[in-house]
Amino acid sequence: MKAPVLRAIDPRSPDASLLDEAASRLRRGELVAFPTETVYGLGGLATDVRSLARIFAAKGRPVTHPLIAHVEGFDGLLRLARDVPASARAFADAFWPGGLTLVVPKASSVPPELTGGTDSVAVRVPSHPVALAFVRSVGAPVAAPSANRYQGISPTTAVHVVRSLGDRVDFVLDAGPTTSGIESTVLDLTREVPTILRPGAIAISELRRIDARVVALATVVDESEARVSPGMDAKHYAPDAHVVVVTSRLESLALARDESGRRKVALLLRGAPPVDGERDGLDGALVRALPDDPSDYARGLYAALHDFESAGVAVVVVEAVPSDEAWWAVRDRLTRASSSR
Ligand code: TXA
Ligand code: MG
Repeated sequence: MKAPVLRAIDPRSPDASLLDEAASRLRRGELVAFPTETVYGLGGLATDVRSLARIFAAKGRPVTHPLIAHVEGFDGLLRLARDVPASARAFADAFWPGGLTLVVPKASSVPPELTGGTDSVAVRVPSHPVALAFVRSVGAPVAAPSANRYQGISPTTAVHVVRSLGDRVDFVLDAGPTTSGIESTVLDLTREVPTILRPGAIAISELRRIDARVVALATVVDESEARVSPGMDAKHYAPDAHVVVVTSRLESLALARDESGRRKVALLLRGAPPVDGERDGLDGALVRALPDDPSDYARGLYAALHDFESAGVAVVVVEAVPSDEAWWAVRDRLTRASSSR
């Protein structure tokens, strides 16, 4: 088995010949991981069923979980969709390129392998300069789930991609850490009312500026909703460790101390790093603090979980995040990580 080819690319001026190489590999049916502003994607040709089959196999993902097609602009959506709801244009104008995925009725030409057999297709225009230039070089829609094994932690660096997928990916464009660090918001426009299927990079308050009726599915999706929204099962984004979310900082410190006597522990705090007294009894533990701001917290979350995982911790104690709307996407990922075992 050969190792993936990893190539550094400068996001400020992406090398055209490198993009060409990546694009021609993709058109030949290879899988190319590339950075987006949210997380790294595992790219394949969205219109080619063999490429799609390779993506599902590389991720170990059930074929009923649909993929997102990445396109250059709104025209790309029009080519994949039919009966496009009028609101699609307004949302695209406001948030594309960017971290919003629109679910619209699919055109008959779109292979059901892309859409998990459903009659709708998910489309997004990424804003990362490398992602956008790459999609442009390919000249066709690029199917790209997050570039990690099924139910693993999404990658925010090229190293995360290689650690998760190894030689299941052929080529990796490495542009350094992603900027928003959490997946796109998935907005379903096939319903009566625009419905958020997955909270993410674009906040619900921002979407409501375009259409005040935007609603959300519950944060943790139960079995019946999982059928409506394929691929949104609760077992997602989970590290190879038991994750426990604890209400207060004081309680999270106490639990981490308690656990660290028994097994390898990581503690993820919010806000200030631990002060002297707080460190007592935590000598063997890995302690991290993420900023007390939802966007900044999101940017660092997956990298922290990846670090904990590669350090082989058995339990991750997480200080809970606030319950307001601005923290919804982060809270959703923490809940999924912790409800999985
Ligand atoms: O930020 C992102 O969205 C990243 C980057 C690479 O673009 N991609 C990503 O893809 O997170 P993935 O495959 O890990 O997640 C796709 C999400 C799933 O929750 C899936 O259920 C939803 O999009 N989705 C895709 N097509 C859908 C459809 N036709 N109907 C409903 N949900 C759909
Ligand atoms: Mg994913």
